[in-house]
Amino acid sequence: MDLLKSFYLWNIGCQMNRADAARLSEALERRGYLATREPREADLLILNTCVVRQSAEDKVVGRLSSLKSLKQGNDRMLLVMGCFVDDVEELAETYPFVDAFFAPSDIASVLEYVDHKDRRRAHGGPLDDPLSAPEIAEQVPISYGCDHHCTYCIVALRRGRQQSRPVAEIRRDVEELVSRGAREITLLGQNVDDYGSDLPGGVTLSTVLRAIHDTDGLWRIRFLTSHPQEMTDEIITTATGLPKLCESWELPIQSGDDDVLRRMGRGYTVAHFRDLVNRIRAATAPRDCAINTDIIVGFPGETAEQFQRTLDLVREVRFDVVHVAAYSPRPGTVAARLVDDVPAAEKERRRAAIEEAQTEIAAEINAQLLGRDVELLVDGFQGGRWRGRTRTNKLVFFDADGNAPGAGVGAGANWLGHLVQARITWTGPWSMRAYKPRLLR
Ligand code: SAH
Ligand code: F3S
Repeated sequence: MDLLKSFYLWNIGCQMNRADAARLSEALERRGYLATREPREADLLILNTCVVRQSAEDKVVGRLSSLKSLKQGNDRMLLVMGCFVDDVEELAETYPFVDAFFAPSDIASVLEYVDHKDRRRAHGGPLDDPLSAPEIAEQVPISYGCDHHCTYCIVALRRGRQQSRPVAEIRRDVEELVSRGAREITLLGQNVDDYGSDLPGGVTLSTVLRAIHDTDGLWRIRFLTSHPQEMTDEIITTATGLPKLCESWELPIQSGDDDVLRRMGRGYTVAHFRDLVNRIRAATAPRDCAINTDIIVGFPGETAEQFQRTLDLVREVRFDVVHVAAYSPRPGTVAARLVDDVPAAEKERRRAAIEEAQTEIAAEINAQLLGRDVELLVDGFQGGRWRGRTRTNKLVFFDADGNAPGAGVGAGANWLGHLVQARITWTGPWSMRAYKPRLLR
């Protein structure tokens, strides 16, 4: 292979995949490759894949077949990583035009492979290109894999047992990103509340939170995803007691019915979940607190009454965000052996019912902010407006005089990466508008 010059990285799936894609892009840029959005222009094509539901897997297969023709008659390299990668031998047979397959999050092996194939590296070592700045809000993985066995879940099967990263390594990553301009860090894991159970020394999520909290220049910390069975009062106390920890929790309930939860292998009851939400809200008060959740509708055997309990719970708990998905049988999971007996149209009806209820609730929750001053971390400029997020992770857009990015703070200010206070002037279910931005720092 001659010099590799540019790469095309296609990514779908969870926050972990997004973080992996960002890390991989950065590592390739460090080596002197240029990112392109056009696969035709790229010497190196990489797909970072997801198979959490059949629809995601279909996208991966579609992407693979559309890239197949690009591989013909040239020495472009095509690499596939992520949860699509299971039995490599079988995959290599089905997709002979793919050069290599890599496990989820195995960035090190991808880079090793690329370096080995790329003669420039063999001769010259890494190029000293200046690094592009990180995003204002960045992610740092704290653990890979998951030790739970939710019966519907393929993620744990593809990603394997939990592997927690050492605290010192996490702290180094955080310090590096912050020293280059990141102001908010989200710690990632399939189940962050279980962090450390595979490490010596009794380290927990709280240990990590305390270890990174005093990083100079770091203003906000988040973590996800939590598991209702494993969140302890110790974590709640630590998280609500540290000033940089934002008041927003990702706490998947999955179902509002105890029998369905049991068959999902979730290990908690609705009563436990309700109590947990109350404890988090009480510990956060009087501050606002956002609780976001995931729900699966149409799990095998889910009756109309059982679904109704989920809908009732959504109305009762009043989540800030609900990610709702129709159940999709995944190969190799325990639930895949159950009869997928809720018809597709009924799953869609249940999904839409949750969406509809949640849209109304989200609109009501946001409407309470009308006229109030909120603290925003400005992380982008979009559609002619500055974009920021509240500590509860709500999206707020605001205009500033002559609002082009690039100017100095003041008139026509560049608010990017600043913390501002602004007054909410309009609210909808998904975003809000604000005015009178005032620089906090
Ligand atoms: N521990 C991770 C789980 C990753 S899967 C986390 O909590 O983020 C992310 C979400 O996808 C799950 O919470 C679940 O709501 C949904 N999901 C997982 N498997 C699914 C399946 N087979 N069908 C439908 N939705 C599923
Ligand atoms: Fe999957 Fe359950 Fe773990 S959803 S990733 S097995 S907590």
